[in-house]
Amino acid sequence: MEAKGKVVHKVRVGILGATGMVGQRFVSMLHNHPWFEVACLAASARSAGITYGQAVEGRWKLKKAIPEEVKEMNILDVESDFDIVAKSVNLVFSALNMDKERVKRIEERYAEKGVAVVSNNSSNRWTSDIPMVIPEINPDHLRLIEPQRKKRGWSKGFIVVKPNCSLQSYVPVLHVLRKFKPRLVEVTTLQAISGSGKTFADWPEMVDNVIPFISGEEEKTEREPLKILGDLVEDRIKEAENLQISATCIRVPVTDGHMASVSVKFENKPTFGEIVEAIHNFNNPLSEMNLPSSPKQFIKYFFEDDRPQTDLDRDLGEGMTVSCGRFREDPFFDWKFVSLSHNTIRGAAGGAILIAELLYKKGYLIIS
Ligand SMILES: NC(=O)c1ccc[n+]([C@@H]2O[C@H](COP(=O)([O-])OP(=O)(O)OC[C@H]3O[C@@H](n4cnc5c(N)ncnc54)[C@H](OP(=O)(O)O)[C@@H]3O)[C@@H](O)[C@H]2O)c1
Repeated sequence: MEAKGKVVHKVRVGILGATGMVGQRFVSMLHNHPWFEVACLAASARSAGITYGQAVEGRWKLKKAIPEEVKEMNILDVESDFDIVAKSVNLVFSALNMDKERVKRIEERYAEKGVAVVSNNSSNRWTSDIPMVIPEINPDHLRLIEPQRKKRGWSKGFIVVKPNCSLQSYVPVLHVLRKFKPRLVEVTTLQAISGSGKTFADWPEMVDNVIPFISGEEEKTEREPLKILGDLVEDRIKEAENLQISATCIRVPVTDGHMASVSVKFENKPTFGEIVEAIHNFNNPLSEMNLPSSPKQFIKYFFEDDRPQTDLDRDLGEGMTVSCGRFREDPFFDWKFVSLSHNTIRGAAGGAILIAELLYKKGYLIIS
């Protein structure tokens, strides 16, 4: 199913929820993408009918300027312009923030119409025939796409989701240490305000403040890793067994970048040397694929006591490299450490684009 040769015609992609925080990241990251071209931008009825430049005026949240080629594109309505959107694209990135059941129906409608859907929204993460993927960790779960299509009678379309941003710093580290059998994990996440689609300008209460609650986040942080680290057995994912996670999720006053403080108990406690070696020698399944968004280094280990730091390290590998450090012995568990990832890049738009690149490379996208 490998896509052959050079990309001659780019894959036409659409962004559902293009005006939001994650949607803007998609727009920015897809500018000059070698394989994908943005053919369509869609959002709510509030934004439909005006140009993208007009719709995000006064609410463009990124440091990089709005790419010129999208400024004059007219925004379509995700639902009422469904036929136009579906006809103009091969794949949509879903970055919708609205009622979950409605998102589920919208994503299924697009897939039924023959469009590949890669979603950031949580509505389909626990649908049993839908894979939840971090490409470096569980690319084999994409094999669920064929049974998904068969069961639902979809010939071209399908849905793949990416997991919540809160877990994307520490689950990669647990994954590379899997041979030592992590069993008990206690994690506290320190999450940036962009994780709720906000900046300090539109959330002034977050300046000089910490909020010890993020609705729904702890449940996702505890449960989703079990599906990602699970095994594909016939037509379903068998969740990872013997792994229990307890999470506390806290909103902190930084713009971008989710940090995690993690304690782990293993069945076979590794030495510090074995931990560092496992991180350095991780056998990245993407390493030979030349995917445009795949970072050279999946996980960077810092030996300095005061790293990783959000401001210094969230943009490593264009925001796609996860970083960790401060591995030290824990009096109650075995080891504790700190990890960091960019929530709107690795944890959202970048992670989804990497999935789409993998889908393309593996031949799952049927372009006609
Ligand atoms: N921010 C992160 O770090 C992050 C990370 C991982 C996953 N996610 C997930 O990604 C999704 C988007 O997050 P976000 O932070 O970008 O949210 P956001 O800034 O609130 O953007 C929401 C988008 O959804 C659109 N929308 C809202 N109601 C709609 C409706 N009734 N019909 C059609 N479109 C509608 C909005 O369009 P209008 O502008 O027209 O209202 C906007 O484009 C969420 O599911 C979120 O949980 C976010």
